[in-house]
Amino acid sequence: MLRKPVALITGASGEIGHGLITHLAEAGTRPVITLDLRPLEGDLGRKVQQQFAGSILDSHLLDRIISEFEVDLVFHLAALLSTRSEFTPVTAHHVNVEGTLNLLEFAQKEGESHGRPVKFLYPSSIAAYGLPDIGTKARAGKVREDDFNQPTTMYGANKLYCEQLGRYYARHYKQLAAETLSGKVDFRAIRFPGLISAATVPSGGTSDFAPEMLHAAAQGKPYPCFVRPDTRIPFLAMPDGVDAILTLAAAPKEKLTRSVYNIGGFNPSAEEIRKIVLEAFPRAQITTALDASRQGIVDSWPADVDDSAARRDWGYAPKYDLGRAFSDYLVPAIRERYA
Ligand code: SER
Repeated sequence: MLRKPVALITGASGEIGHGLITHLAEAGTRPVITLDLRPLEGDLGRKVQQQFAGSILDSHLLDRIISEFEVDLVFHLAALLSTRSEFTPVTAHHVNVEGTLNLLEFAQKEGESHGRPVKFLYPSSIAAYGLPDIGTKARAGKVREDDFNQPTTMYGANKLYCEQLGRYYARHYKQLAAETLSGKVDFRAIRFPGLISAATVPSGGTSDFAPEMLHAAAQGKPYPCFVRPDTRIPFLAMPDGVDAILTLAAAPKEKLTRSVYNIGGFNPSAEEIRKIVLEAFPRAQITTALDASRQGIVDSWPADVDDSAARRDWGYAPKYDLGRAFSDYLVPAIRERYA
């Protein structure tokens, strides 16, 4: 029996998976299969062809997927985020690094068996950067991909290394073998800024203060923000994040000059976010309850990123600036969600 051509999403029940499944289902170009520890919520489950419940560390399960499906597109979203990873760094390494290695090996085997390169889309992160102090952060402005690659977190170190692993599989895999084996994995990564979604709340990240502030306000709950009001990092509205990953997936390979791309969006301070949330939800109670350790992590991330390579190579063009992200997407969608 022939295997069926499909796209695979790992970590599908997480924040990015949510939007991605909906888009892929609407586009209807390829059936989707998913791999996650948790089942997909309600409606989402009906939009995919098959859900595999399990871990990316389970190589038998990955082999079972290979035996049944011809995967030529992988969105490897499963990961432990930055805050959570600091409590269990060894587990973070297992999931974030060994899990990614398993998926790259999975893609390599798929590519070898069906003979076409497997596109491998990987969400890296602003956590891959590590700026030494806030003075340097203020002076650095828009940070380029190859600068300040000294992350302070386990998650950031994991992401940075997996970017290298992806490049290795794409270009140099088993370079001493008699036959050429590289080129079966077409690895493409985006360093995402903090993402803000109206549909989901993140769990275990450090950029979470922005989405948490908004979701708490919409539910009439007080929110003690764990960073200083002047804290500034880049953010992006989720629909633009999902668009970006799909646009990079569709980009002609010959246009891509790098394997890893920054993308920016808007970069308000925590205070600016608080003000915009208060305009929409005037009764919101947002205070500051500083968590010095988490503050330290956010302070090591850039205030903004240079995304000129993404704009030039594959036409990255986010639709939402700060104002529109709130007025046209987040606030209306979130009001409806908690109505
Ligand atoms: N949003 C992520 C985190 O905070 C960064 O990639 O961990």
